[in-house]
Amino acid sequence: IKNIKTCGGPNDSMFVRLFIPHSRTSLPASMFSRNDFSIWSILRKCIGMELSKITMPVIFNEPLSFLQRLTEYMEHTYLIHQANASSDSIERMKCVAAFAVSAVASQWERTGKPFNPLLGETYELVREDLGFRLISEQVSHHPPVSAFHAEGLKKDFVFHGSIYPKLKFWGKSVEAEPKGIITLELPRYNEAYTWTNPTCCVHNIIVGQLWIEQYGNVEVLNHKTGERCCLNFKPCGLFGKELHKVEGYILDKSKKKVCSLYGKWTECMYIVDYAALEAHKRSGKGTAEKKSSKPGSREEVEEIPLPEADTVEVIPGSYLLWRIAPRPVNSTEMYSFTSFAMQLNELDKDMDGLIPKTDCRLRPDIRAMENGDIDLASEEKKRLEEKQRAACKTYSKSDDEWKTKWFQQGQNPHNGSQDWLFSTGYWNRNYPLLPDIY
Ligand SMILES: *[C@@H]1O[C@H](CO)[C@@H](O)[C@H](O)[C@H]1NC(C)=O
Ligand SMILES: *[C@@H]1O[C@H](CO)[C@@H](O)[C@H](O)[C@H]1NC(C)=O
Ligand SMILES: *[C@@H]1O[C@H](CO)[C@@H](O)[C@H](O)[C@H]1NC(C)=O
Repeated sequence: IKNIKTCGGPNDSMFVRLFIPHSRTSLPASMFSRNDFSIWSILRKCIGMELSKITMPVIFNEPLSFLQRLTEYMEHTYLIHQANASSDSIERMKCVAAFAVSAVASQWERTGKPFNPLLGETYELVREDLGFRLISEQVSHHPPVSAFHAEGLKKDFVFHGSIYPKLKFWGKSVEAEPKGIITLELPRYNEAYTWTNPTCCVHNIIVGQLWIEQYGNVEVLNHKTGERCCLNFKPCGLFGKELHKVEGYILDKSKKKVCSLYGKWTECMYIVDYAALEAHKRSGKGTAEKKSSKPGSREEVEEIPLPEADTVEVIPGSYLLWRIAPRPVNSTEMYSFTSFAMQLNELDKDMDGLIPKTDCRLRPDIRAMENGDIDLASEEKKRLEEKQRAACKTYSKSDDEWKTKWFQQGQNPHNGSQDWLFSTGYWNRNYPLLPDIY
């Protein structure tokens, strides 16, 4: 693609690579084949049930906790730095919208289920090279709620949220609806943006090849200016024509469409003037609106759809907002992890002793799975789940209530809905009286 202005990229990052503590490019062991396991024998009695209530064999997991998986929202933090550096609010909205789409890109081909976090489990990630630090905590068990709080190391942003992944089993597929609100604050502009992630669906969990789809509407709202970005993650439709497509537009406060966004969450996002897009459509070159598939037809498109050979058709006058980084060489044998994900459970010597004993990196079942010891992983997973059950029973019998350590339930200050808010202290690195959850 020629003559495309880019809106910057990881190389334009204004953060000098001071120190890169995370450097692992692959896992210690490759994954086991899941082909010999019949998931059907476990699931046939559970159609329509919530998956969090079903105990799944560890073979269907990936060696990461859901708290670590959440952290993958931060892979493209450079888009937030770009938002901070733009003096125009519409330009900022473009970067924030690209960030919202890029945040789900790591889910592409990731068909393993992350481990359910235990109540009180925490995870921290400091990436000086990317300019942020993040802390998350499992703040509720029923329903399972994970809260996270990230901040720019140079105080240019705060990014936080609480997620309740509601999993539903639909016979041939599993749907994960990420309930919960996500907030990005840019203190320099006194702005806050909120949105909710699209629904993720894993197909063919019984037979055939697993594949992932994201669908639904995502609305990014700038609470200060009233500007919004409406994004539509398209369901794949008949013959896979809409596979992975995302389309949307930015509305100014008078609800006038000022620009259009298009692309695929697995690949890239472009932006173009709304007028230029309309002109392109009138010239007949634009992809005419395809007949959208009837809702009922989704069931028939269960086999893996073939992506169109030419992926995203670029409309003249567009420029690139974001493009996905290639997966590392060993990715397919390693749960389709991105380079970012490969490093998440790495435990280097400097970190051991510094992080609290509730950190995911110290969870024995995940560690065993990462090391390729499936039997130990399975045993440890059972042991931890039983330990958690016993602890919950003790709590319900006594007058003590479970207290979250780093987050408190409260109202989202911008949207007003129920949320979990960070209550400082974590980064002082003084961790007395932590629960023994492993
Ligand atoms: C890929 O995996 C192999 C063995 O599992 C390892 O020797 C090699 O270093 C890995 N490649 C990279 C780039 O990490
Ligand atoms: C945020 O943007 C302003 C204005 O461009 C810039 O001066 C400042 O260095 C930026 N902050 C960071 C952390 O990049
Ligand atoms: C808060 O955000 C949620 C999720 O995005 C949305 O459904 C709800 O309407 C919002 N509430 C208000 C008061 O804006």
